[in-house]
Amino acid sequence: MITKPTIDKIMEATDIVEVIGEFVQLKKRGANYVGLSPFVNERTPSFTVSPAKGIFKDFSSGKGGSAVTFLMELEKFTYPEALKWLAKKYSIEVEETVDTSENREADNHRESLMIVTGYAAKFFHESLLETDEGKNIGLSYFKERGFNKDTITKFELGYSPDQWEAFTGQAIKEGYQQEFLEESGLSVKRDNGSLYDRYRGRVMFPIHSFTGRVIAFGGRTLKNDKNVPKYVNSPESEIYHKSSVLYGLFFAKKAIRDEDNCYLVEGYADVISVHQAGIENVVASSGTSLTVEQIRLIGRLTKNITILYDGDAAGIKASLRGLDMILEEGLNVKVVLFPDGHDPDSYVRSVGTSAFKKYIEDTKKDFILYKTDLLLKDAGNDPIKKAEVIREIVESVAKIPDSIKASVFIKECSDLLKIDERALLSELNKMRMAKAKKDSQQPNSNSRQFVPVDETLLYEPVEQEVKDESGQEKEIIRLLLLYGNRMIDWDGIANTYIGPFMIAELSDVEFEHSVSKQFVELYRKEVENGVLPDEQYFIHYQDKAIVDLTVTLIATKYILSENWYEMHHILVNDEQKNMKATILGAIFHLKKQKVGKILDGLRTELQKTPDAADQDILLSQYIHMKKVEKSISDYLGSVIIK
Ligand code: UTP
Ligand code: MN
Repeated sequence: MITKPTIDKIMEATDIVEVIGEFVQLKKRGANYVGLSPFVNERTPSFTVSPAKGIFKDFSSGKGGSAVTFLMELEKFTYPEALKWLAKKYSIEVEETVDTSENREADNHRESLMIVTGYAAKFFHESLLETDEGKNIGLSYFKERGFNKDTITKFELGYSPDQWEAFTGQAIKEGYQQEFLEESGLSVKRDNGSLYDRYRGRVMFPIHSFTGRVIAFGGRTLKNDKNVPKYVNSPESEIYHKSSVLYGLFFAKKAIRDEDNCYLVEGYADVISVHQAGIENVVASSGTSLTVEQIRLIGRLTKNITILYDGDAAGIKASLRGLDMILEEGLNVKVVLFPDGHDPDSYVRSVGTSAFKKYIEDTKKDFILYKTDLLLKDAGNDPIKKAEVIREIVESVAKIPDSIKASVFIKECSDLLKIDERALLSELNKMRMAKAKKDSQQPNSNSRQFVPVDETLLYEPVEQEVKDESGQEKEIIRLLLLYGNRMIDWDGIANTYIGPFMIAELSDVEFEHSVSKQFVELYRKEVENGVLPDEQYFIHYQDKAIVDLTVTLIATKYILSENWYEMHHILVNDEQKNMKATILGAIFHLKKQKVGKILDGLRTELQKTPDAADQDILLSQYIHMKKVEKSISDYLGSVIIK
């Protein structure tokens, strides 16, 4: 277990805007930051970070919490993993108490796999730099390709010896379990059950997760033999889902955000060469066609993708259709084509950084215009082919969710196609209508995402959900959080804090909503220990359900939005102006609700009971509770209507 002092240090150092900023492009708005939700696909920002409170709230998915819970949600980290990630980021030494359950073996499955892949990366890297075979074969190959020492270190490049069990044997000797060696794909099982190395005599490219842990490998052969696959890649595993990983993203994400653009290349070598040339906002889809998940990964960081193609036209045409998917995700796509025979790697090495950059600036073309050009050239003067081109182009434009942007393209394409703009627009509208119709017929499709969201709606107050049963209980917790450590100064009651007062008043109430119940018990326990827990205590509590509830309650839109505060200060102020009515009102509303439920129960029982004596008892209970209800109502009236 991570010790309390370490946790405290981590919490102190953590800047939530900085942490979330690594994953989400945030813009400052008033005292808060807003961005697009990383949890759902949206086009208007509903994701809010409050640095003052140290919380985020995603109004689209409902998720909210601290920097720690953010990492747990997004990266599927466990609580200690999230803490360790933060500790690493802020260079805090982690103190752990010995806990056998955290041993290498007993740790959870994914963690075990990542420990193995991490170990393998180190093994291959050391074998590259420190063994004769590695230096003579692997290192000299990388040097020949122009990769310098820093690059080799940064990307943790490696070499796997040309033997059957060099890696596997060493790993087993060091106590790594066969199960994880096999599952991570580093070792392969023979029929007799023994394991051998998947990668032999190959240079190794570790593949990092978004947060920088090695999750897979690509191993390149050094032979020129057509029968040997050029790359051998890790198989899919619990830690490696190929379709949602981009090679180099971990090293590129900061630059992607800073440059507000992401270069997309094809291969490992392209990423590394371009990166080494000082252009760090570059990732690769690793030979497969781009997936929606990969596009969304980029979309969290920037809305601009520039695809750098090898100079081979056949490949480009095949990929054109796939690019519509990027448009559909609302991103802008530009394409750059390198001179024949060049890929980004060879080109940047031959011309140098500034000429490379200049080439990109000079030749980059918007995808749709590029596609129009390309298809038109193909169609020549054939009117039927030309009609087909028009249809295809309009189809692409129709994928762009932003209609203003779409109409700009229509204008430009009408020039290129030499077709009246209005004709194209009417074609576009037809397609859009057909698409809308199709979407509405599929209630489970993604069509919800296309509903335009008015940004101003973001700052409307949310209806307090007092209507459902747990609402009144949550209202109590909201008040505990907001006002619990304020002094009471009401006539008749003074010298006590609101929190302990509420807890005492509610000692006869049984909370039903389980998280609320847990919350109140926690609060009570701390009060009994002489501690007055505040907002931050619950925001950083280690139980996610508690953090969730806390953030949901304190991060209603009108509290996070000063705009709203200013425009509608009436509501929040009212609540504070008559604190007595607010606090007692909530307590007694809840009590009244509980009594109401008891009365309901008694009523049903009365109807079911045939026995007159039993009925009598129930009836007197009923009358008693009715009186209680009445006195609560009277009391409520007297506190509130004043
Ligand atoms: P390339 O053949 O362009 O590879 O394939 P490269 O990385 O540029 O390698 P060099 O320059 O010849 O050394 C592009 C990407 O396709 C995937 C790899 O991710 C590679 O980086 N690929 C290619 C495979 O997965 N398997 C293969 O056999 C070939
Ligand atoms: Mn290449």
